Amino acid sequence: MNKSGAIGLFDSGIGGLTVSRVINTILPGEATIYFGDTAHIPYGQRSAGELLGFADKIVSFLAGQGVKFIIFACNTSSALSLPVLSSRYPLPMIGLIQPGVAEALRLTRNRKVGVIATEATVRSGAYENELKKRDSSIEVYSQAAPRLVPLVEAGELDSPAAVEAVNQYLFPLREAGIDTLIFGCTHYPFLARLVADVLGPDVQLVDPAGATVQLAAAEMARLGLLTTGGPCPMHRFFVSGEPQAFREQARRFLGKDVGPVTRAEL
Ligand code: DGL
Repeated sequence: MNKSGAIGLFDSGIGGLTVSRVINTILPGEATIYFGDTAHIPYGQRSAGELLGFADKIVSFLAGQGVKFIIFACNTSSALSLPVLSSRYPLPMIGLIQPGVAEALRLTRNRKVGVIATEATVRSGAYENELKKRDSSIEVYSQAAPRLVPLVEAGELDSPAAVEAVNQYLFPLREAGIDTLIFGCTHYPFLARLVADVLGPDVQLVDPAGATVQLAAAEMARLGLLTTGGPCPMHRFFVSGEPQAFREQARRFLGKDVGPVTRAEL
């Protein structure tokens, strides 16, 4: 592994941009290669076998691009595919679940933690198991929120449909009295304002991206992989679906053009 290589990251679509924007802030000198598996989005209703197949091909693609470190910028893949792939490739890789859990445990006071995530992530029990493994007294309230990814992909962050869906999904968590909510899907932080309006100021919102990138930075420092390169790193974007659509979505969400997006066959 070469410290001048890029950090690879991937998601089913634009959700992982909530991670890449944190990389750009915390590690501004690091180049990135982003893969959006837009031909297969949404991931949330897919089987563990399908998800593993997609993630395996993406990790292999990123490894072929010479990345030095991989962040699974997708909770569904972090929950279901990372445990298998981390021992299949000689590349350091991390996901969002453990850093997200550590952050939630740091913040909660009443020990009632909510998790909203895709159906596959909730079904995997990954967040619940990790929270309980670290603190058996934690009460975990998990809610699958399958309508949110299509809404975010369509840019509907405060439409009536988004307001209705967010209210519906958060109602049971609010009733349960959670004081901390984990965004267990990287698409959801784009809805943070709406979620904050619904839950009110007493509920802390945890976007695992921050803690995950901090962990990646610490791991890369430990492995001697932090770049010593110049201040203008390259950020390259690949998708399995339609490149122009992704470029427009990314521009809308990041508020800047990400440059050319390339279609890659897996
Ligand atoms: N953004 C992804 C996640 O964090 C996947 C969403 C989806 O495609 O269903 O789980």
